[in-house]
Amino acid sequence: MGHIAPHPLERIPLDEADMIERVTALQIEIMKGRDPKRRGQHPKQQALLRGVFEVADSVPESLRAGVFAAPARFDALVRASTGPMPKESDPNPHAMAIKLLDVPGSPVGTQDFILLDQPTFFIRDVADYVSFFEAAQTDPSAAGFFKSRPREFGLNLTFNVVIASHLERQYWSEVPIAMGGGAARLTLIPDVANVSGRDPVTTPDGLREALEDHFVRQGREAKFVLAAQAYVDEATTPIEDAMSLWPTPFEIVATLTLPAQDFTAPEQFEFCEHLSYTPWHSAPEHQPLGGIQRCRKRVYEESQRLRHSLNGVDDHEPTSADLARLGPCL
Ligand code: HEM
Repeated sequence: MGHIAPHPLERIPLDEADMIERVTALQIEIMKGRDPKRRGQHPKQQALLRGVFEVADSVPESLRAGVFAAPARFDALVRASTGPMPKESDPNPHAMAIKLLDVPGSPVGTQDFILLDQPTFFIRDVADYVSFFEAAQTDPSAAGFFKSRPREFGLNLTFNVVIASHLERQYWSEVPIAMGGGAARLTLIPDVANVSGRDPVTTPDGLREALEDHFVRQGREAKFVLAAQAYVDEATTPIEDAMSLWPTPFEIVATLTLPAQDFTAPEQFEFCEHLSYTPWHSAPEHQPLGGIQRCRKRVYEESQRLRHSLNGVDDHEPTSADLARLGPCL
């Protein structure tokens, strides 16, 4: 991924490149202090799941761009993860990272949508991220940063929860991507049939066990819809403020089906460990937008470069041919 020109909707602070270098350096330092062979954030994988992503045939005009331009079907690789607490019974953010395969027009062949179970990010922009990261260097609770920022503190608190299963959560992109000349944020909404009635997990690997129970033991599929909310203007739907909640309605743009499957082979776990998800694996029509997204470009590249070199693996994007490496549908 080389240099990508700013999108017309972006407003880039003059000193942002230096701040991004600072965040990148701090992130690499943090990785080296933990386990640099693993992801710098969201290191704990619960599952790599095969999925089928189908673009709806009724996508509104303002959202009809890139992969949503016309009805289509893509194979997908979905990584369910938590981070940073190692025990799944501890409060954590939860994530679903969706990688569409064999995407025409994507320079790397894939389109990634990375989603967390909170509607907005807890940091506004790169300048604040530097302050947060610097405070967290000396005190992991970053109390020095949060003490003068109650909104950020509140958002960070609600990030960390204990849940029953990834299949029962709603997820958000939190930050925007382009939709051609416009922009949008995304949300992934579970089907009501995914709900198990289970209690929140009480064991260190409870979330992986919940997925095993659903897909392998019960042999059930799980479904989600993906919905997008369109950018209107900078005042209503700010591109550069990752903490703002956009008030525009969500419109359904696709469905994601995760068939009943056996995802439990150690080789599948290992394959997922070495995959790279980043919002910058994208078709040009879905360029990630805003300071936090621009920062993620450098940070994810460096985190991935470091762990791939330490693990002695190549960084290349998978194709549908790699689905043969996964366990069977049941
Ligand atoms: C400047 C802000 C951010 C920084 C510095 C950051 C940093 C990172 C790093 C270093 C990784 C590991 C990359 C790898 O080695 O593969 C990662 C993964 C991840 N990040 Fe971020 N991140 C940021 C913002 C966000 C936001 C806004 C979201 C909201 C969706 C997010 C969600 C995730 C998820 C879900 C993963 C795991 C992806 C996977 O399954 O491989 N991050 N982040």
